[in-house]
Amino acid sequence: MNKKELIEKVVQKKEFSELPKRDVEKALGHFDNVKYLDEEKVKLTRDLLRKVFSVFTSQKILRLKERDFEWVLKKHLSTRERFPYYKKLYEKILRNELGNITIFDLGSGVNGFSYPFFPKKVNYVGVEAMGQLVDLMNLYFSKKEIKKAMAVQQSLFELEKIKKLLEEGKGKKIVFLFKTLDSLEMLEKDFSKKLLKKIVPLVDKVVVSFATRSLGNGQRFRANRRWFTDFVGSNFKILSDFEFGNERYIEFYKAK
Ligand SMILES: C[S@@+](CC[C@H](N)C(=O)[O-])C[C@H]1O[C@@H](n2cnc3c(N)ncnc32)[C@H](O)[C@@H]1O
Repeated sequence: MNKKELIEKVVQKKEFSELPKRDVEKALGHFDNVKYLDEEKVKLTRDLLRKVFSVFTSQKILRLKERDFEWVLKKHLSTRERFPYYKKLYEKILRNELGNITIFDLGSGVNGFSYPFFPKKVNYVGVEAMGQLVDLMNLYFSKKEIKKAMAVQQSLFELEKIKKLLEEGKGKKIVFLFKTLDSLEMLEKDFSKKLLKKIVPLVDKVVVSFATRSLGNGQRFRANRRWFTDFVGSNFKILSDFEFGNERYIEFYKAK
């Protein structure tokens, strides 16, 4: 099979059917090697895509069209763990912010469903690769008449498009990258640094989070995030570094 046919085969599985082609191609690039048979290429690509995109999402979320926000937040691994802390977390992040605020939630998963926890009516833009999650969030925003929120399907690897989206934002701009950098690194090593260098200067604050326990067995990681804190420390100004539940949050900005 040629590359196009391999990609078509990979996305025949429903869970990958609405991923941006660019991301599927990137994953296939890891295995497009003569040492693998075509079936192996397809399998290995799907395994990698599952780790990056869909492992956190219960298949039930993808099948059902309409649920209340608490149900959805508890069916996605990342948001489920965060559920008891949302209110405290958003109050902390928005503690000093007045006026018009736009949150760009990059690799949002279903985090748009946490909109009711914001202490004020912010503009919210969820940016997510999985089309099914984008549709689910937009359905929720329209049912609940949350006019200031929307979700867009976009690969974070499309740097110029992400940059344009951020530039169009109104008021104070805050970027969330909750538990997303590890996913990006799985497809392209050091892409986080490229992304941050491009976007941090365009916004007022960035909040990155990492899991401090593994998804599978709940073991605490020895959490070596030195590459990240070293990089952020030498390029940007760290505002705070704190932990809620099993998640470590680091807030920073580009000093002007
Ligand atoms: C671990 S989940 C975290 C979800 C959400 N940020 C949260 O913490 O609740 C990572 C999310 O990033 C998305 N993602 C991974 N790579 C992406 C990419 N290149 N472009 C857009 N979204 C991506 C995945 O589909 C997944 O929903």
